[in-house]
Amino acid sequence: MEAFRGLFYVEGEFRERYVLVEDGVIRKVSLDPDGSHVTPIPGHVLPGGVDMHVHFRDPGEEKKEDFRTGSTAAALGGTTTVFDMPNNVIPVRDERTFNFKKDAISGKSYVDFGLYQLASEQLIDSATGEKIFLGKSTGGILTDLEKCVWSGKVKVVHSELQECLERNALHPRNLFEHDASRPIECELSGIERVAEYLTENVHIAHVTNVRALSLAKAFGFTTEVTPHHLLLNTSMEIGSFGKVNPPLRKKTVQEELLYNLDLGKVDVISSDHAPHTREEKSEFSTSPSGIPGVETRVPLVLALFKKGNISLAGMVSLLMENPARICRVNKGYIAAGYDADFISVDFNDSRKIRGEDLHSRAGWTPFEGYEGIFPKEVYLRGDLLAQEGEIVGDRRGAFLDGKAK
Ligand code: DOR
Ligand code: ZN
Repeated sequence: MEAFRGLFYVEGEFRERYVLVEDGVIRKVSLDPDGSHVTPIPGHVLPGGVDMHVHFRDPGEEKKEDFRTGSTAAALGGTTTVFDMPNNVIPVRDERTFNFKKDAISGKSYVDFGLYQLASEQLIDSATGEKIFLGKSTGGILTDLEKCVWSGKVKVVHSELQECLERNALHPRNLFEHDASRPIECELSGIERVAEYLTENVHIAHVTNVRALSLAKAFGFTTEVTPHHLLLNTSMEIGSFGKVNPPLRKKTVQEELLYNLDLGKVDVISSDHAPHTREEKSEFSTSPSGIPGVETRVPLVLALFKKGNISLAGMVSLLMENPARICRVNKGYIAAGYDADFISVDFNDSRKIRGEDLHSRAGWTPFEGYEGIFPKEVYLRGDLLAQEGEIVGDRRGAFLDGKAK
């Protein structure tokens, strides 16, 4: 048994405790070390971040990202668990394509990971859950709700509805037109559509506005927002680097979403890390949609907490606890029975985010110049993985088997 000593976030507040860990799992949170060897952790200690929505592009588009670079970025941004999306070059929709992907990324990850499948006519035992595309986005995938079979696991919904997207289609040349071409109504219609088919375990991804949040909550769905929809809007001079689906919205819509972050309608903040190369992003009309963000998600939200935009309990539930619960992994809490994934934070040490300092192969960020609070130390299952912005551990990231429990 090993004892970690520090100011841990337990039961809703920071407390001086010893956390006793054996085989990477927390056995006890205690007031004394019970005779174990003690390792001190500096600063305030939170559970490791859980990002339930990333696109690491592996295999098939390694020039944009692979599991080594994506997981390096995750770890250095305080995220120790990711759940990766199935819109790969070879879409993940059956056992064969799932195992092909799992084998291709084996041994590459620094952080623990689960893999989604596309909703289809076949269920994959080990998938985290099913991804539903109600409208086309990067990858051009469209889910036929009539034909799908469903597990009891999470269903992550890209809610923009195809019929609505087609009605509003134009060739956007800037962020304002991109917003107009994929309006809020398309998110609302998609949420209503999915409610005709599914009631349980529905998770509405990347909600951009408060109307869609309220509608999703009225159906009993869980909701997710991204740092880019919380912090960026169509008036900003970021051009195609802000092109994403669903789109960035007008300033008033963005500000209302941020204002509602801690009022009970948002369950999860995910990055929707969707890297594309700088070259692909250079021209608005041809640029693919997607924004990288796995490394900046936790630092940006820690900075929002420091500024008073979100409570401590709200921040931890949205970044760690709720995504872990929704994806059914023993993570996200510093409590007996959970994995010993920790991040140590100095709330007084923030720095300006710079694309060149980040580790995604994308090499750029729309959050250039924003304040971020990056972790001092990152532990995965009891082992030091990163310290002072450097990876110091091995690629021990484990596959989180989504077998129904
Ligand atoms: O902007 C987006 N990019 N939205 C998506 O739905 C997919 C993602 C990607 O894979 O690039
Ligand atoms: Zn996505």
